[in-house]
Amino acid sequence: MKGVIFNLLENFICETWGDEKYEEILSLCPLKTKKPFVGPGTYPDSDLMTIANKTAEILGVSLDDALKSFGRYAFPRLAQRYPNFLENIHTARDFLLTVDSVIHVEVKKLYPNAETPKFSYQDLSETHLVMTYTSKRNLFSLVEGFIEGVSDFFDTPIAYQRKDAEPDNNTCVFDLHFASKSE
Ligand code: HEM
Repeated sequence: MKGVIFNLLENFICETWGDEKYEEILSLCPLKTKKPFVGPGTYPDSDLMTIANKTAEILGVSLDDALKSFGRYAFPRLAQRYPNFLENIHTARDFLLTVDSVIHVEVKKLYPNAETPKFSYQDLSETHLVMTYTSKRNLFSLVEGFIEGVSDFFDTPIAYQRKDAEPDNNTCVFDLHFASKSE
């Protein structure tokens, strides 16, 4: 996983619970990586999961809740960092439809060894989209958090249902209903 995701996780923990809490969590993690994480670097997925699991344990929440909160935090920051990816996109639905064919394609141009997940879509109507995530990483709750972050960013409520497949199928289906922008 790219360093940019590790850096966002560090920022999430530091901003929410303080720098000391992050240092405490890190000191309890047996990581393969011994040097600081830098944005363009690539690090073992297992290190990210070790930090996420330890964070959940120390804070007394489930791993799923920790990943979801992290995704919700991370999306607006990624959007701010790569503003050109969102140019001329005005709705949450239109944006989500670009993640597979535009956003993560651009990510791979920036970071050729990035391993982004696969999304496929059933575009059922202006307010109804079914989005299927496939990745051997099975980060279903991170996707859920990203979707909530997209909802916040575009100020558009999204009612969703999530259907997880067995982990070895590596797939999760999100049935999304978009409301009009909040007043
Ligand atoms: C401006 C928008 C976005 C940017 C710049 C971005 C960038 C990235 C980057 C750099 C990675 C790391 C890949 C790696 O280390 O191999 C990643 C992974 C990921 N992205 Fe995105 N992303 C964006 C939007 C989204 C959205 C909206 C979703 C979901 C709805 C999403 C879902 C994921 C997931 C779940 C992963 C983890 C990898 C996996 O599950 O296999 N991303 N993204």
